[in-house]
Amino acid sequence: MQFRSPRGTHDILPEQAGSFRKVIETSRDLFEHAGYAELVTPIFEENELFARSVGSETDIVQKEMYVFTDRGGRTVALRPEGTAPVVRAYIQHGLHARGDVQKLYYVGPMFRYDRPSAGRYRQFHQVGIEAIGSLSPYLDVECMALLLGIAQRLGVRDVAIHLNSVGCKKCRPPYVGLLREYLAPRIDSMCKDCNTRYLTNPLRVLDCKVESCRPFLEGIPRITDHLDDECRSHFGEVRDILEASGIPCTLDPYLVRGLDYYTKTAFELIHSAFGARTSLGGGGRYDDLVELLGGDPAPAVGFSAGVERFVLALEEARGEGAGGKDRNNAVRVFFVSTDPGTRTLAFREMLRLRESVPVDMDFAGRSVKAQFRKADKLGARYAVVFGGEELAKGAVKLKDLASGEETELPLAGLTERLGQMGGTQ
Ligand code: HAM
Repeated sequence: MQFRSPRGTHDILPEQAGSFRKVIETSRDLFEHAGYAELVTPIFEENELFARSVGSETDIVQKEMYVFTDRGGRTVALRPEGTAPVVRAYIQHGLHARGDVQKLYYVGPMFRYDRPSAGRYRQFHQVGIEAIGSLSPYLDVECMALLLGIAQRLGVRDVAIHLNSVGCKKCRPPYVGLLREYLAPRIDSMCKDCNTRYLTNPLRVLDCKVESCRPFLEGIPRITDHLDDECRSHFGEVRDILEASGIPCTLDPYLVRGLDYYTKTAFELIHSAFGARTSLGGGGRYDDLVELLGGDPAPAVGFSAGVERFVLALEEARGEGAGGKDRNNAVRVFFVSTDPGTRTLAFREMLRLRESVPVDMDFAGRSVKAQFRKADKLGARYAVVFGGEELAKGAVKLKDLASGEETELPLAGLTERLGQMGGTQ
């Protein structure tokens, strides 16, 4: 029997690892430049944390969580998202005492028992930020700018920020009442999921992708026409700041998010390429969550982006299929030994040189010619030949693999010389 990775999970092979790392490093760099500090939380948490924050009636909690009982009888869940754990840590460690706004970011795997498809996995990775402690609409815009910034830095085009306001606990219930009224005479003709949502969370009906439900959604009341004064004014400020900052966005009054904690601003970065629309990232405000999880009230806003989704978009932008050309290989110097007698010396020098220069050698007993081929394949800039003749004179041969030029170098001080020559360039 041959083992395979569990359904919905995937291995990131060396040729993809470069893009994977690039998405993460680009995001980290942007986040840190904007004053966000990294927070690492456990991969599993108490199940109740997600039920309470993401919402017990959401698809994530109802259908997609990996929940299990550990050996101590505790019910725990693999985290399906990063916001609730960050807020849990913020409260647990009293981070509010460290300053007015806590700007935090995270990178790591998330788990959802979703139906696997292109860009949809059961274990995937997110990068995300959370700014906790401020109602400032500038922070909402900062989040959107950073999400868009990831795409821009990576050269991913055909992206647009979709924006909505989902109101708050004061103005949403009357709007949900209006929705129910509107849907009541139509719901029998709508899909099974819409019927369930109609009872549990009618807002999610707006998000239905089933073609036969579409006609029923035309003319449905828009939440942005029913915001209270505070939410309307905040939404207006967010749009004004976006405009003044030159950040384009598409207003989408039917944008609702799959998690219950949102208040006011909700947004997604939509990638439209080859006829398909994918959400590369999403987020919004969650002004009640800290209090809901037991902390002193603190408004907050954040987003997370799907690393795998950005990798796919990046590969599309470069015109590569899965497993593009990114070599993910840092080796710049390759040590060639002409006979087994010189191998140990080459090995010892390699270990020393590695402190300053990425270097590798042959471990497969290859011929000299094949060792050069390997050096080429790895993209090395220089080969250093450990041959009996030169070694007898206390020297090695250095070959510039780009120009073919050869020089003799004394073995003593080789590490320093190669380091100075920029063997890493
Ligand atoms: P979310 O919209 O559920 O939001 O997920 C954010 C992003 O994670 C999605 O836009 C998508 O790129 C990626 N993603 C979600 N599910 C999958 C999957 N099954 N496979 C691959 N990628 C996926 C959140 O998780 C919120 N915590 C965002 C947030 C942060 N809101 C405020 N702060």
